[in-house]
Amino acid sequence: MRRLLPMAGATLALLLVTSAAQASGCIASKPGTGLSADEASAVYDCLKDALLDGYRQGDKRWIPGDYVDSFRLWERASRNPAFSPAHGGRHLLTYVNAAGARDYLRFSDSDVTMPVGTLIAAESFSVDERGRAQPGPLFLMEKVEPGRSPQTDDWFYMAVAPNGSPMVMDVISACSACHQGRFGQRGGLGYPPVEARAVPVPASGGQPE
Ligand code: HEC
Repeated sequence: MRRLLPMAGATLALLLVTSAAQASGCIASKPGTGLSADEASAVYDCLKDALLDGYRQGDKRWIPGDYVDSFRLWERASRNPAFSPAHGGRHLLTYVNAAGARDYLRFSDSDVTMPVGTLIAAESFSVDERGRAQPGPLFLMEKVEPGRSPQTDDWFYMAVAPNGSPMVMDVISACSACHQGRFGQRGGLGYPPVEARAVPVPASGGQPE
């Protein structure tokens, strides 16, 4: 499993370069690696409108535009943006659509079979060593019909750059090798870090807690 990481790491370094873009004017008091949940949320609150405006710019080509228009209306799978070393050291905030919410939000380590039509989106931003925040890509996964993409366990991987362009990449080496190599036993899903996971909505009535 581990042997897949250097290759994936190299590709993500490339993603970092392609999306190194506009400064946002949103500043944290410390580097991204040290932000608390509240501090990361504050950065996100400052950045979120510009982030979405960026993703929505221009032609999405092979990425359905309504994924980008609607992902913020899906279930939130993260309580707060959380640092993700695997995605170029950015903070990620994850959402799942209605088709996949019940299964994804179990955050199960085994017996994961995600329904066809599941869409998962992770918007991202980075915070540099001086606290300056910068928009990052919108990472997307879609579960497609069995046999349509056997090499990626029938997940389509997509990414939209902060300026709205669909990102051209070899999804096997850039995305799937890591997801399948590290999380193959749980459907290829990484899940947000435990402390940042949304509390699943109870099946009927009642308040969480
Ligand atoms: C080096 C490993 C690695 C690579 C490469 C990678 N990911 Fe991930 N991905 C993760 C991990 C770990 C998580 C969950 C934890 C987190 O939020 O960082 C995750 C989470 C996600 C999620 C939220 C769904 C889930 O799995 O819980 C999406 C969507 C996603 N990645 C898409 C992508 C796309 C698209 C690419 C390629 C551009 C990619 N990833 C490349 C490791 C990776």
